[in-house]
Amino acid sequence: MFQSVLPTESLAHSLQRAAQVLEAVQNGAGLPMALAQAILKAPNGSRGATQDLAYRAVRHLGSSRALLNILVKPILQRRVRDILLCALALLQEPREHAAYSDFTVVNQAVEAVALGVKTFGAKGLVNAVLRRFLRERHALLSQIALQPEARWNYPQWWIDAVQAAWPKQWMSLLTAGNQRGPMTLRVNTRKLCIDAAKKMLAEEGILSHVVGPAALRLAFAVPVNRLPGFYEGLLSVQDAGAQHAAALVGAKDRMRVLDACAAPGGKSGHLLELADIELLALDRDLIRVNRIYENLERLGFSANVKIGDAGDPKKWWDGQPFDRILADVPCSAAGVVRRHPDIRWLRRPSDIDSLVKEQRRILNGLWCTLARGGQLLYVTCSIFPAENEAQAQWFENAHPDAVRLSAPGQLLMTPDGDHDGFFYARFQKR
Ligand SMILES: C[S@@+](CC[C@H](N)C(=O)[O-])C[C@H]1O[C@@H](n2cnc3c(N)ncnc32)[C@H](O)[C@@H]1O
Repeated sequence: MFQSVLPTESLAHSLQRAAQVLEAVQNGAGLPMALAQAILKAPNGSRGATQDLAYRAVRHLGSSRALLNILVKPILQRRVRDILLCALALLQEPREHAAYSDFTVVNQAVEAVALGVKTFGAKGLVNAVLRRFLRERHALLSQIALQPEARWNYPQWWIDAVQAAWPKQWMSLLTAGNQRGPMTLRVNTRKLCIDAAKKMLAEEGILSHVVGPAALRLAFAVPVNRLPGFYEGLLSVQDAGAQHAAALVGAKDRMRVLDACAAPGGKSGHLLELADIELLALDRDLIRVNRIYENLERLGFSANVKIGDAGDPKKWWDGQPFDRILADVPCSAAGVVRRHPDIRWLRRPSDIDSLVKEQRRILNGLWCTLARGGQLLYVTCSIFPAENEAQAQWFENAHPDAVRLSAPGQLLMTPDGDHDGFFYARFQKR
């Protein structure tokens, strides 16, 4: 890099880092991990800006790529291309909500390429491309709107899959998935009633409204360290749709309960808030398991936490049947795209088939650990029927001793809606 006179908190530096994140995501890395790497050495003040730019760039990847295909004929250097994709994402935002003026974005994108020895020579090109976009914005946006990937900002196969599954709601689902999810809290109702929590937040200037028995949707997202009572375990951050799980498990005091895919422990914490249970929190991911300890410690609970494969109980099960099992299985995460905009670009159509097989293997493994009369709750954060209703029907057919109980089934997200997309099915063992 050149010795730059720009402050390291400048938009140019953040654009450089966001471009690095975008490159990693396009190479198959998850957005949170790529972001963590890119901001490792960044000054504190610019981390938020880099995160914001990277998320915007990933949300607009389809339309920005289509724009670049029109705007730039020569083959671009990778970093120059990614800086342009980040800048175009900013310039496509409705002007009334724009974080930066058009002038600032163009100027800082030029400065961003000027920061690199190898990209310095592309200053003129970046300036010309972005200025042309600004001059022809309306016509260019109308032109790319004819291409579904650019219009919706999802890969074609994803658009097709959502349309096939939900012929009436597909547009609303795709639109909702492009929004930022609201910040929703779960109140530990063992310690505080929901109205008291709402009042406690309001006293700190944090406005919220009730969207579930323990769920408060905040008017604006705030850092968790600003939440009164967060470190004392009075509040947790959890989507309202995810908050259905613990109540549907229906655990009572002293029951033996298995949270089979537990990390990072969001639902484990909720289960423990609702009843005095004997909980085993299992997950196969060594690193994510640490998050279960952190979460439960903050809430003041303890549980038996194990690393293991839910589909292979002989490695971790002591042979004592469970009264309740929560199977929050690995899935496409198509219901939580508004919080994880990278998922759509990272998944491949063949992933769904592999996930369906894995979910079945896990369910088969878990079923033999359930007591007679016990209940298993199957949960995904997907909106694809292959992982959801088709899976529930397969399970009922494959296990004659399984009785399907009532459950919400598919929850779909809607634009500005209160919850992400989830699926819930409940089974009792005869
Ligand atoms: C949807 S997340 C669980 C979220 C968690 N229940 C919560 O509310 O915080 C799915 C989890 O399943 C875990 N997982 C994937 N395959 C597994 C397996 N075969 N056995 C156990 N855990 C598995 C993943 O590591 C991941 O943490």
